[in-house]
Amino acid sequence: MAHDPSGRPKDNALLHDEKENIPSNPTNNRSFQDVLAANASRRNVLSGTLAGAAATFVAPAAFAESRETGGGGKGPLVKFTPLTIDQATQDQTTVSIADEYEYQVLIPWGTPIEPGITEEYAGDPTTRPTPEQAALQIGIGHDGMWFYPERRGRYNRRGEGPAVFKGFLCINHEFGRNAHVLGKSDPESLDDVRLSQAVHGVSVVAIENRYGDWRVVKSPNSRRITANTPVCFSGPAKDSPLLQNPNGNIPLGTVNNCGSGPTPWGTYLTCEENFNGYFGSSEGESFNDQRTDAQLRYGFDFDGFNYGWHLFDRRFDLSDPDYVNESNRFGWVVEIDPYDASQKPVKRTALGRFKHEAIAIAQSRGGRIAAYMGDDQRFDYCYKYVSDKSWRDALRNGESPLDEGVLYVARFNDDNTGDWLELSPNNPVLSNWTIEEILINTRLAADAVGATPMDRPEWTTIGKNGEVYWTLTNNSDRTVPNAANPQAPNSDGHIIRTTDSDNYLGDTFTWEIYILASTTRGTPNVFTDPDAAYADPFGRLFIGTDGGQPDGLQDQLVVFDTTAETPTPCRLLTGVVSDEITGWTVTPDFRTAFTNIQHPGNGNPASTNFPAPFDGTTIPRDCTLVIRRKDGGIVGS
Ligand code: FEO
Ligand code: CA
Ligand code: CA
Repeated sequence: MAHDPSGRPKDNALLHDEKENIPSNPTNNRSFQDVLAANASRRNVLSGTLAGAAATFVAPAAFAESRETGGGGKGPLVKFTPLTIDQATQDQTTVSIADEYEYQVLIPWGTPIEPGITEEYAGDPTTRPTPEQAALQIGIGHDGMWFYPERRGRYNRRGEGPAVFKGFLCINHEFGRNAHVLGKSDPESLDDVRLSQAVHGVSVVAIENRYGDWRVVKSPNSRRITANTPVCFSGPAKDSPLLQNPNGNIPLGTVNNCGSGPTPWGTYLTCEENFNGYFGSSEGESFNDQRTDAQLRYGFDFDGFNYGWHLFDRRFDLSDPDYVNESNRFGWVVEIDPYDASQKPVKRTALGRFKHEAIAIAQSRGGRIAAYMGDDQRFDYCYKYVSDKSWRDALRNGESPLDEGVLYVARFNDDNTGDWLELSPNNPVLSNWTIEEILINTRLAADAVGATPMDRPEWTTIGKNGEVYWTLTNNSDRTVPNAANPQAPNSDGHIIRTTDSDNYLGDTFTWEIYILASTTRGTPNVFTDPDAAYADPFGRLFIGTDGGQPDGLQDQLVVFDTTAETPTPCRLLTGVVSDEITGWTVTPDFRTAFTNIQHPGNGNPASTNFPAPFDGTTIPRDCTLVIRRKDGGIVGS
């Protein structure tokens, strides 16, 4: 059982897997949301053709900024009364939320992806869905997500949405442990493995708001993407032999979809994080002595995170010579078109292969983009990708802005400057590498160029003034501090903000520590282990936590006013026992937000049955919370 040095149980470390956070970096290197701009002539953005349906987006910031409640510069941005520790710890079988707010539970695990398409799995402890049912239901492990409105023009000039409107929620299903999903710790058949695989992946689900009440509705776009859905590769490494198997099997599936990010052209990016945990070896323990450098660096071992998929599905057997490169097919950022179910998800190799936590895209002058990404492992790195062309030009040419560009990894200098180190053969250190090798074994290339090992980089988000926030959740293994990771061990985590030179395009940056979570201990606003992050365009920063919180608190969602002199986390909600608060998205009017309760009770019905009322037996189910101010104001105010 993993404990951090402070002595408090890190139950998520236990839940995910003890191996999940074991550092695998052997080097000793020194240590928008101006989303969805109107895009009148949509094309097939995934395959780069110009066919495709028209679908457009509102430009939400422009609308809502005109509203006093949105943060038009009148007083503090965060005005709600933060939930007190006493309020938050009274009943931890259910969610607690600040007085000015209300929530609605939406799409718990097992909800049919369209009404009537299959039965609901409602948490009956004596049964589980079949794999076929599960592939038509919302998956488990709700995490990164984004809301895509059905079409523009349905908001008035003050940014107010209509009483009835519709959109698509793209939502990640990061993981569900066997005990929760199967009701037993090990699969006993291929059918069991198929059920586990079917609850992983992504959902695109149509939802409708009728006078404030949200529900799932029918749509041809609604779909599940699972570990067995056909996908394709694009970008510089797409044809690499390292992505082909002797078996000749086509690329299938996405796993451990953790955080996410929207693109300015209206697609969804889902990030594959702990993909290593789904692989194992039929050779057993002796496999561990034969691992390649790359397998070691990516944390593969003979039994993974005990999912046991490799026991019944050869694709996940690291020792099967027919599938020798299958594991290289995971660890990518995957692009999904929420508006077109006929498009295969695309794995974008230019963004590199590592334990992708999440992604945040900033637009530079002319529409070139910079994408900021963390690799979540102790002592792993912060990355950015810069597109060669403006995204509009790339799409006009039938290309993807995520296929042609340069990947960099961060070196944080002690004087609050930093360098983006190029990961390409143009870097003299990598002149003997091919671009395919660099993009597929990105961690090894980043080791070679001297990136700074960080305290578990999780989400990234772009602040009001273009600064990039990076959550560094914790690192109980750190023994030697440095300026950017100043605590050893770092039990509580911290948030860094960076500003790049040359309007996101430059190869240098400045950085500062926004907050050390440990400094909130002993205050009413205590929080630790920052993970999910979202900055609204007005200056609010929303942080979801993942780790044993102090003072008896469960994981929580806190809001900062980044325009204030002193960063102060204000507690908006707390989750249920042994859960994690994941993901965040908002409607274009900023009046409805969505976040997730992930792995409530770690799946144990004796501790909570959320979202069902406490009965001690109903299996708790991961779910989304729709969050609103009771007065209809902007969320976070
Ligand atoms: Fe999936 Fe690093 O959280
Ligand atoms: Ca996370
Ligand atoms: Ca985490």
